[in-house]
Amino acid sequence: MANNPNNKNNYPKKIGIIMDGNGRWAKANKLKVTQGHEKGVGVVKDIVEECVAKNIESLTIYAFSSENWSRPKSEVNGIKKLIVKAIIDQVPELKEQGVMLNFFGDVRSFGYEIKEKTESAEDDTFQESPSLRLNVALGYGGRKDIVNTCKELAIDYKAGRIKTNDIDEDMIAATSQVPDDNIDLIIRTGGDKRLSNFLLFQAAYAEFMFIDKLWPDFTKDDFIKCLNSFKKVRRRFGKRV
Ligand code: IPE
Ligand code: IPE
Ligand code: MG
Repeated sequence: MANNPNNKNNYPKKIGIIMDGNGRWAKANKLKVTQGHEKGVGVVKDIVEECVAKNIESLTIYAFSSENWSRPKSEVNGIKKLIVKAIIDQVPELKEQGVMLNFFGDVRSFGYEIKEKTESAEDDTFQESPSLRLNVALGYGGRKDIVNTCKELAIDYKAGRIKTNDIDEDMIAATSQVPDDNIDLIIRTGGDKRLSNFLLFQAAYAEFMFIDKLWPDFTKDDFIKCLNSFKKVRRRFGKRV
């Protein structure tokens, strides 16, 4: 879990972002909520570019939580359209940058079109050594993911594929849907200081940065400030150092 020895700058290797504040931004600018989400997609593009520039290994973004299904149908439909549009618009550029896309969560619940588009975006951007792994949480909830992981391991146990003592932290991480484990840094915009069911297992030793700005106002410079403050953090991992 130590910082990447090959990364001389000691930037975080794996980052998670809770992109919060699109709704408030839209309201403050007298726009529709979907326009807030649309502006938010543009910010993702900037942050991905910066991650590639800074050699970050993986970026896991919270795009839609399992709890977000309880939002008005019109908002959910607007988000679905934006996901499709973002994939169509951005996959060619992501490919050019060497970014590999990975969607996780209950993607099937978004319907056939999104399932098909996300799968082909994953195929299109697949590579052995990507410049950045971009993981997008869609219909994801950390507690559900832990429940599903337990169920899968129970099935494997019952079928005789694993023994009780085979179950360890690495096996749980590998069985979970979340593509990356041991997240180094979690950033949440929008001012609230909570996880909202994001990466419960994988963020066990993450640093947390809560930013007052709303996600559509978050800039590359704000992101760089987060990276620089991460460098100053002394990560002890329980040791007396
Ligand atoms: C985050 O922004 C994006 C999603 C949850 C899809 P919000 O839509 O939650 O924005 P606020 O918190 O209402 O401002
Ligand atoms: C968290 O934001 C989920 C995403 C950013 C996708 P929410 O706006 O849904 O979180 P709460 O409701 O404030 O906890
Ligand atoms: Mg919110």
